[in-house]
Amino acid sequence: MKITVVGTGYVGLVTGACFSEVGHEVLCVDNNEQKVAMLNRLEMPIYEDGLEAMVRKNVEEGRLRFTSCIKEGTEFSEVIFVAVGTPPGRSGEANLSYVEQVGREVAEHMTSYHLLVEKSTVPVNTSEQLKRTMTKYLRADIDFDVASNPEFLREGRAIPDALNPSRVVVGVESKRALLLLQEVYKPIMERSGCRLLEMDIASAELTKHASNSFLAMKISYINAVSRICELTGANVEKVAEGMGLDPRIGPEFLRAGVGYGGSCFPKDVDAFVHISERLGYSFDLLKDVQKVNREQREHVFSKIKKELWVVENKRIAILGIAFKPGTDDYREAPALYFVNELAEHGATLRLWDPIAAPHFKKEFPQHTYCEDLMECVQDADLVLVMTEWPEIKALDIQALKKAMKSPVMIDGRNVFDPEVLREAGFIYHSVGRL
Ligand code: UGA
Repeated sequence: MKITVVGTGYVGLVTGACFSEVGHEVLCVDNNEQKVAMLNRLEMPIYEDGLEAMVRKNVEEGRLRFTSCIKEGTEFSEVIFVAVGTPPGRSGEANLSYVEQVGREVAEHMTSYHLLVEKSTVPVNTSEQLKRTMTKYLRADIDFDVASNPEFLREGRAIPDALNPSRVVVGVESKRALLLLQEVYKPIMERSGCRLLEMDIASAELTKHASNSFLAMKISYINAVSRICELTGANVEKVAEGMGLDPRIGPEFLRAGVGYGGSCFPKDVDAFVHISERLGYSFDLLKDVQKVNREQREHVFSKIKKELWVVENKRIAILGIAFKPGTDDYREAPALYFVNELAEHGATLRLWDPIAAPHFKKEFPQHTYCEDLMECVQDADLVLVMTEWPEIKALDIQALKKAMKSPVMIDGRNVFDPEVLREAGFIYHSVGRL
């Protein structure tokens, strides 16, 4: 089957690559010519395990191509996936101008039936606007459909998630659109055994915001519980384990820490709060999810201040920049907050991250970056753990203690065992564990 994917960001590029991997012929369109040139040279704009090899293979076998021409994309296939960015606008609402632009441009170039599929995360009822826009820009009376097919892949595990999804949600309002999407997903459903859930478009759009917000709520919930643990001497990991064994709760997304970051949860929870507000419902529960997430950072920061007394001129080693392991993405990463706060308090910062450091350094060149973990912690007054990279977990504790000026660690991801660290002579603070 021929498929066009517009937008070569995380979702678009992975979706395009995976569709070609399962046998479809895919044309990826992006209006950023530099990015298209990069992709045509087989250089990946993002780091994702296995992506480069998959793109290379499918390009070489002739199933995957890149172009900056939307007209070509429109002519290539009757099914067009829209995977362009929906960044937060000034007030937190999703900025839909890129989605609108694709709708407009596709409509202008259409000469026969097309199905436009929303893959980007969009607020509920976006399809209504998209349909209105397309109708206005069509050059003739041509039939078309809009559908919603939200993506649930995680960064760092994007390819396995896309090839083995937990579910495929499709929001459609015509049999023709449903049949086309069933054909698109047939090879993925056959190999993964997952279900294709058919529903109306608004429900599909809502499923995405509701899922991400629920996961963010689970994290904020356990972080709130971690505060009670700290006040009572309970251990949040034990509590999470005790809760998670109930199949109605489940063990995942109950890891307490410094809070969630990334390009999805902060933006999507915010957008969901805003769209709810606009529809006339104040989603206070989600506002509290955001509040807990904000306060969690502040709370961990207060531990640093309490421990150091004076932050100014202290040498602090920050281990981990990415918002989670397995990615070089630091958008909305907790580390950003700490780098800014600590720098403002006059600390000297040394940072380590196996893949996010080079990009981060471009934005914050004033700090010291180390490729070697032990070099990073050398003479540090305090070590701050921000991402649970395996290299950090594997640190030799005695060597770490020896290298530091004073053995103080604030562990924002509960990477280490408090008892082991204290026995080794560290002053150690983590989250929800005494
Ligand atoms: C998230 C969702 O998990 C995906 O299902 C969704 O498709 C994606 O957003 C999206 O909308 O595109 P992602 O942002 O890649 O995926 O990252 P997650 O693995 O969900 O982690 C998000 C943040 O929560 C990270 O900062 C992580 O450290 C934090 N987290 C996660 C916790 O603090 N505790 C946990 O128990 C789990």
